[in-house]
Amino acid sequence: MSNFEESRWADKDFSQGYRDDADIILPFRVQFIEISISLYEHFISQNPQAKVMDLGCGDGLFIQELTKSSKPLKITLVDGSAEMLAAAKRRLSGQDGTCFIKASFQQLLANDLLDENFDFIYSSLAMHHLTFDEKKKVYAYIYEHLIPDGWFIHYDVALPPSDNLEKWYLSLWRKWIKRHSSKERQEQLLTVPDQYKDNPDNVPDTLGSQLKILKDVGFINVDCFYKYGLFSLFGGSKQGRER
Ligand SMILES: C[S@@+](CC[C@H](N)C(=O)[O-])C[C@H]1O[C@@H](n2cnc3c(N)ncnc32)[C@H](O)[C@@H]1O
Repeated sequence: MSNFEESRWADKDFSQGYRDDADIILPFRVQFIEISISLYEHFISQNPQAKVMDLGCGDGLFIQELTKSSKPLKITLVDGSAEMLAAAKRRLSGQDGTCFIKASFQQLLANDLLDENFDFIYSSLAMHHLTFDEKKKVYAYIYEHLIPDGWFIHYDVALPPSDNLEKWYLSLWRKWIKRHSSKERQEQLLTVPDQYKDNPDNVPDTLGSQLKILKDVGFINVDCFYKYGLFSLFGGSKQGRER
């Protein structure tokens, strides 16, 4: 299994760079988050005892947005990077019922640090470094850590099913960056899609194969909820108790 400490995310400057530029380089990030929150509000928010986890939480933006409209009982944020967790703590300072765990996915699988199950598990843009077999193990781990009727929502880049589609999706991504970056930053930020493509640490799988893993692991209601080019939001729920 790949090692988090050897990845670019363990580098302080790289993680700061992502936090600085995320809104410019991630197409429709606001909408991806809005749809995720809408799903939470529809299926989970009526439960005042709900427990939520964000895996690969980065600087905690998703949890900050979610808690503007909903108040889960407990929120667990997990990330392999100390800098990201520190940024999340700053962003969420003062929020009750919030717990932070520094752990890579690899560490979670090797030595389960979570002694509870969740109503809602969210992850964004953190798992495309995992190989197909690693993703299978992480999806199974997530399934185990959901309560019956709990939901897993995953927002990430996926491998397009053909080279033609990939070329189009990369050009869509460049157009987004061009429209949203300042003149001074444009040249630099326009290299992001090619850097993503050329980085051997990025091993995305197709959306179709990831939906299949979710079904194989036992998830129901498996679907893609939102998509733009390479970026997809998908997931499913755990079988309920009555079945
Ligand atoms: C692109 S950032 C996304 C952060 C946040 N989820 C967001 O959407 O802004 C990827 C995050 O995943 C974390 N990460 C990457 N690989 C990881 C791993 N193997 N285990 C745990 N965290 C990981 C990084 O430290 C980083 O915070």
